[in-house]
Amino acid sequence: MRRLTLLLAGLAALSCSGSPRHESMAELHGRVIERARVQTVYMDSLLNERQAPGTDWQGPRTFQDGKLLTTGVSGWVSGFYPGVLWQVYEATEDTLFRSLATKYTKPLAALLVRDTDHDIGFQLMSSYGRWLDSGTADANTAEALREVLREGAGTLAGRFDPEIGVIRSWNGDHWNYPVIIDNMMNLELLMKYGDRAIAEKHALTTAANHFREDGTTWHLVNYADDGSVLGKQTVQGYADDSAWARGQSWALYGYAMMAREERAAGNEELAGTFYGIADKLKGWLLAHLPEDGIPCWDYSQTDYRDASAGAILASGLLILNELKPDETALQTADRILRTLASPEYLADPRTNGGFLLKHSVGNLPGGSEIDVPLTYADYYFLEALSRFPR
Ligand code: GLY
Repeated sequence: MRRLTLLLAGLAALSCSGSPRHESMAELHGRVIERARVQTVYMDSLLNERQAPGTDWQGPRTFQDGKLLTTGVSGWVSGFYPGVLWQVYEATEDTLFRSLATKYTKPLAALLVRDTDHDIGFQLMSSYGRWLDSGTADANTAEALREVLREGAGTLAGRFDPEIGVIRSWNGDHWNYPVIIDNMMNLELLMKYGDRAIAEKHALTTAANHFREDGTTWHLVNYADDGSVLGKQTVQGYADDSAWARGQSWALYGYAMMAREERAAGNEELAGTFYGIADKLKGWLLAHLPEDGIPCWDYSQTDYRDASAGAILASGLLILNELKPDETALQTADRILRTLASPEYLADPRTNGGFLLKHSVGNLPGGSEIDVPLTYADYYFLEALSRFPR
């Protein structure tokens, strides 16, 4: 039924070739899903061309200078293409996408023994988590999927230091104990399949140390062994005190997700605390977004837009709206999604390496992934579209 609704919506949108303003969000979603069908299959063919028999799993990362650039299983983005495929399957119920999604998800089980950074939440929730939520697995398979997620949550929890009260983001000796705001996104794995108390403590410690008076967040906080703060800085933003756009989106989404999980568990007090952090940040972001809703890679800059920051923000705003009806959050998500679905951002069929969206920024100060497609921009774009209330 959902498939039929989306198909009809997509056809309706195609037949009205006028202004996208006339397109309902259901029509827009249908149109994007039809594009995603073409793009994901095209991307699979590009990956198959690259993949020599017997070589390790490769998933998409970006498309640059006419080439599809890939990631191995351990890259932080490895779960997002499987997650895009699961979302296309959920929207279309076309079993082609279930088999593609399964094919790209299964090898990620290798991550369970990898504990060299915090990214396992991103990697497993977008792949195995989506598989489980798709409701397509039989009882035995579903239990095996739950086991993968529980084991992954255990691996993530192993990076928590109770003295400091946070999960360590990166290894190495450049910092004593670095925690980046992105880490908030990994907590969903713990909230659903692991030790919730660890996730709550991480979120509370981060609330105390990562945020500025105006509600925005630093990118990285470096902790001493006793939990005191050694320094606050950026890595992917313009300046230590500027607002790196994707970091703000991770923060808003991360705290909105925490509020949702606490509400679901009946912990209204913590839900309120986490909601308040996301809501305050929302106020700043909405006052600083450009007219079309897509931020530049850093809010202090005006050169390159970052579609990924826009897509994550739209999805996070829609979680806030689910928690408490919020017309400004809804209108901003609408604005962002309409811009992303316009020809300026949405790729033509069989172009852009099979990615849906153009114009994201990975790490500008690091000189990498500037004004390119990124697999997680597509993932959160589809997620936000399916989250938009009908
Ligand atoms: N989590 C890494 C990034 O947002 O670039």
